[in-house]
Amino acid sequence: MSFAVRAVGLVKRFPGLEHPALDHLSLDVRVGEMLAITGPSGSGKSTALYAMAGLISLDGGTVAVLGDTPRGRAGWAALRAARIGLVFQEDWLLPTLTARQNVEMPMIGVEPSGPRRDARAHAALEEVGMGAMGDRMPAGLSGGERQRVAIARALANHPALILADEPTGELDTGNSNKVMALLTALNRQGTTVVIVTHDPQVAGACGRTVRVVDGKLEEGP
Ligand SMILES: Nc1ncnc2c1ncn2[C@@H]1O[C@H](COP(=O)(O)OP(=O)(O)O)[C@@H](O)[C@H]1O
Ligand SMILES: [Mg+2]
Repeated sequence: MSFAVRAVGLVKRFPGLEHPALDHLSLDVRVGEMLAITGPSGSGKSTALYAMAGLISLDGGTVAVLGDTPRGRAGWAALRAARIGLVFQEDWLLPTLTARQNVEMPMIGVEPSGPRRDARAHAALEEVGMGAMGDRMPAGLSGGERQRVAIARALANHPALILADEPTGELDTGNSNKVMALLTALNRQGTTVVIVTHDPQVAGACGRTVRVVDGKLEEGP
């Protein structure tokens, strides 16, 4: 069996926090899976997801993504650029760039040809139903549209793994459904998807749900 993520015994302490944010958390995500991570607020879901993306330093444990365990920040940055698409609750689009330029950002350093970047950004925007709005500035888009642009940006380099932290947290039901339809379609095409969510409907759309409580994993219904 091949794994998109193997997280073993993750420990993360933050200064001033009595209990560790991650307390020997282990989690395997199979290639091709669509997994929901749920759990109470403050239980360590985001920290676990960021650990899987190499975005935080750990006090213990190991993370392998698609068989690779990078050492150091540069190694993780290269792995993220090549293989991981990140989606957050907020879209974090750069307000001074158009939608298409935002989608091109992760390709800089990966795809040297400007015209090819442009074409690929357009294709990613088409994939999320935003092909006609590439020239718009983020301020001229609705919240749901901006989140779809953020997903297009995550797709820019054709990631094998998408890590999404409450991607529908700021969206109404209609836009939440659109985002989930999109992530489900990507998963059907073979992309492994991990979604942190509070929303039972979002979790219900995933093939498996795990629950994080007090920085540890509880296999859930
Ligand atoms: N950068 C940080 N500095 C200090 N404490 C943090 C930081 N990030 C998270 N925490 C703490 O770690 C715990 C887990 O946080 P988090 O992973 O964000 O929870 P969740 O996403 O499940 O709501 C919480 O107690 C939170 O306050
Ligand atoms: Mg969180």
